[in-house]
Amino acid sequence: MPAFTLEDLMTKGVKGRTVLVRSDLNVPLDEERNVTDAGRVKASIPVISRLANAGARVIVMAHLGRPKGEPDPALSIRPAAEKLAELSGLNVKVAEDVVGESAQSLAQELADGEVLVIENVRFEAGETSKDDAEREELAKRYAALAGEDGAYVDDAFGAVHRKHASVFDIARVLPAYQGDLVRDELEVLKRLTVEPKRPFVVVLGGAKVSDKLAVIERLLTVADQILVGGGMVFTFLKAKGYE
Ligand code: 3PG
Repeated sequence: MPAFTLEDLMTKGVKGRTVLVRSDLNVPLDEERNVTDAGRVKASIPVISRLANAGARVIVMAHLGRPKGEPDPALSIRPAAEKLAELSGLNVKVAEDVVGESAQSLAQELADGEVLVIENVRFEAGETSKDDAEREELAKRYAALAGEDGAYVDDAFGAVHRKHASVFDIARVLPAYQGDLVRDELEVLKRLTVEPKRPFVVVLGGAKVSDKLAVIERLLTVADQILVGGGMVFTFLKAKGYE
């Protein structure tokens, strides 16, 4: 968790500096690779815009799906990046790779107020590696994209729990700051877990129950009811003995 807020970074000044922002752009796509729910892109825009409008050169790092540490065209970040350009009105460039020639030259050419989205960070094996040295090496390559006076902002609430190079290791290489989306989500979580207004009914959806078990266990101690929907409902039905 970054120890400083975005406010701290803005106070220091970002004009002319390159700021690496970890966003959660993990959006669902249809068969033609159109974004079917732009919620996460929309939620990521305030921090990216705030930095760009203050004259920062913003490099966005994000993942899409779970590629196996090598390029997979079906999981390119491009559709999400194009949606970001469309909805934010910012000047957004998209690299052909994560930290290769394309990312490096686009990063160098970046002007104040412009945004560069590098390819799906999980196209690099080092991103999710269990080997600390491998992750750290990739984190240094991310930091190198930002050059001398770089900074890092973690605004990817959906990914903050991951011990990945663009989330965990990069925060040890560059001065790190908490994004406003992470701040706001934590504020809501705090409100809902400490003396919530009653009756308190939690509605949970999504596909991946494994990541949510700890949250569910915690919420069980405060919620009056928990309603489970979405794909993960099948895990609960199976546990109850249904097919
Ligand atoms: C999500 O979709 O829950 C987040 O983007 C994190 O993705 P992950 O579970 O593949 O790390």
